Amino acid sequence: MMNLFVISGVTGMTGNELARQIVKEGHTVLGFDNFFASSIHTVEDLLENRNFHFYEFDLNSQEQMEQLKTKVISQKACFSQLIYINCAAVVHTEHFYHVNKTFETNVLGMKRFLDQALSLEADIYINCSTSEVYSMNSWNEDGGVAEEDYITLANAEHSQRTSYATGKLMTEFFMKDAVLDNKIKGCSVRFANVYSKNELYPKHIIPHILVQLKEKGKVELLENSKVNRRTFLHNEDSCSAVLALCRTTEALDGSVYNVATDEEISIVDLVKLCAEKMGIGSPEITFKGYRAADPQRRLLSTKKIRERTGWIPQINLNQGIEMCVKEMGY
Ligand SMILES: NC(=O)c1ccc[n+]([C@@H]2O[C@H](COP(=O)([O-])OP(=O)(O)OC[C@H]3O[C@@H](n4cnc5c(N)ncnc54)[C@H](O)[C@@H]3O)[C@@H](O)[C@H]2O)c1
Repeated sequence: MMNLFVISGVTGMTGNELARQIVKEGHTVLGFDNFFASSIHTVEDLLENRNFHFYEFDLNSQEQMEQLKTKVISQKACFSQLIYINCAAVVHTEHFYHVNKTFETNVLGMKRFLDQALSLEADIYINCSTSEVYSMNSWNEDGGVAEEDYITLANAEHSQRTSYATGKLMTEFFMKDAVLDNKIKGCSVRFANVYSKNELYPKHIIPHILVQLKEKGKVELLENSKVNRRTFLHNEDSCSAVLALCRTTEALDGSVYNVATDEEISIVDLVKLCAEKMGIGSPEITFKGYRAADPQRRLLSTKKIRERTGWIPQINLNQGIEMCVKEMGY
């Protein structure tokens, strides 16, 4: 029998691809978004699909969440499992500093969405957290920071940026609490640097580089980028990880999963890779501005999710950048 998935932030980078993969398997999606950081275009290919239902709703609107609840109630009896996935968030580096905005949506919104799932006796809740919670300890020398490692957060003395991560960390406790109380199965997922071929947000590093190369043939980076290294995860892989977790009941123990690749690249080499794929030789790179509390590396151990679910990423960075560049018409 098929499942009913309720997805917040469904037109965002994670939500739209999740919906695509879910509908492809024959399941049904009730998804909503308030277009804070996305548009209906990301799900245009799904709008005619009878298993995909979209609503322009705000996670922070009590009235609209009641309407959503009514829709779920009217459908849930036809499905084997009811699965909530919370993708809606105020995310992206420029918003990380705005504690009120991130707290309202990312913490209170997550909690209310979880409470709705609990009130409807949903089977599973997946909480999208973030690798930002590792803050200044975002890597170690043993092949990446693991879920159970203790974390050292930059705090308000250093940068308001960590308020986003602190809020996300709080949601992991709500998730665990609900599972420990046997109210639902679920887990939190700490994504690291997800990208997609149709990302709308040019301030994320990959679209930032691609757009600058396309428009100016050169790239301006932050001073941090002289030393920073990152891994990048294609959104088809981030979503297949979430669905692998949904299929693995034993994994839904309220705990946390890192979801990332271990293919680390310096930001300068990333510019060179993007330029190469666009047919631009030796791009000019300039450095301006500095971002406080930005870790030099973010390298996550993904042993836990790989061992428990068998998930492995399928798209390497070379292929992923080629997909992005092709989408831009090259
Ligand atoms: N992209 C990454 O690298 C990354 C890394 C770590 C964690 N995450 C987490 O993964 C989840 C999905 O992120 P994403 O990359 O898809 O981001 P995204 O910004 O592309 O998607 C989030 C979506 O939520 C929507 N939204 C925001 N506020 C809303 C509200 N009040 N009501 C309804 N919809 C609302 C936005 O319009 C957007 O479509 C988020 O929880 C994010 O914190 C992402």
